[in-house]
Amino acid sequence: MRRAFIVARRSKASDTSPNPRVGCVMVKGGRIIAEGAHRRFGGAHAEPMALHRARERARGATAYLTMEPCSPFKGKKTPSCAETLAARGIKKVVCASLDPNPKVAGRGVAILRRAGITVELAENWTAEAEKLNRGFFSLMRRGRPWVILKTALSLDGKAASASGKSRWVTGPNARAEVHRLRAQVDAILVGAGTVLADDPALTAHGAGKNPLRVVLAGRRALPKKARVFDSAAPTVVYKPKGSAGLRAVLKELSKRGVGTLLVEGGPTVHAAFLRAGLIDEAKVFLSPKLLSGADDPNTAPRLKSPKIGVYGDDWLIDGVVS
Ligand SMILES: NC(=O)c1ccc[n+]([C@@H]2O[C@H](COP(=O)([O-])OP(=O)(O)OC[C@H]3O[C@@H](n4cnc5c(N)ncnc54)[C@H](OP(=O)(O)O)[C@@H]3O)[C@@H](O)[C@H]2O)c1
Repeated sequence: MRRAFIVARRSKASDTSPNPRVGCVMVKGGRIIAEGAHRRFGGAHAEPMALHRARERARGATAYLTMEPCSPFKGKKTPSCAETLAARGIKKVVCASLDPNPKVAGRGVAILRRAGITVELAENWTAEAEKLNRGFFSLMRRGRPWVILKTALSLDGKAASASGKSRWVTGPNARAEVHRLRAQVDAILVGAGTVLADDPALTAHGAGKNPLRVVLAGRRALPKKARVFDSAAPTVVYKPKGSAGLRAVLKELSKRGVGTLLVEGGPTVHAAFLRAGLIDEAKVFLSPKLLSGADDPNTAPRLKSPKIGVYGDDWLIDGVVS
């Protein structure tokens, strides 16, 4: 099963979205005979890919799957994998999780069992299966995306300098990581304040596919020439009112197939999402700078060779200011 997850992770979540990433490993006589993964939305599923590679050796093999194989349902684009596995004489199937899609939800397992295949649910892998496809599980179970708060803060807890500049709070390595993160999600959201202060492009800067860009507009007019409105990726603008408005935005985005949403700020938008209880995960970059009272983040005082101590749930970051 570990191998099935490695194979599944060769695809980025955004490659298969809104479908899940799935890995399949076929084992016979204690040896791996074939592997397959769902590589892109609309492409072959993991199981037929592995079956294609296993050829006639598939008969009598055990298939390890990161998620239950799909069952037939109306509007489905590809043949049902549960039926295909049964037709090819697979003896046993071990799944890390059931499919949370209500159109499948156990029906794939039922097809396998009816065909006389032994099916095991590997419950010790279920949490890992949900982590692999956060967006898909969130869309299927809650009808809204998995929402990640991302921020870059100075050591004294500022998202920008005293003059409102946040370019740059963090250094090039942290920013490259943000670009990789953007390439993994389906959409990025910022507030009007960030568009007006920073004019961000909100693209993956070559790290992968550019996600959908989402701007929350308010009373202030947004410049038509803002980089977020360029042709690098589509952009949608919403004007939500309160927590109910934010929930409606998430519903709208889920209808567009957005399974994972990165909320990049600024602080007003972060506060609104937190107040509404809509943040599922947080990624906080901490820079060794002290931005209170500084006009330019690039020349702000910073700690030299800081040390990090852990005190229960808290951290002490200690260093000489240079
Ligand atoms: N360090 C970082 O990671 C980071 C990231 C992003 C931004 N920043 C910095 O943060 C500052 C901008 O942040 P900010 O807090 O002023 O603005 P913001 O959070 O980017 O945007 C807030 C604005 O969005 C509009 N809005 C529309 N619907 C909203 C809703 N439901 N909830 C909240 N806002 C909604 C409102 O615009 P109206 O006022 O027009 O009504 C509101 O004032 C800048 O200094 C920027 O450099 C830092």
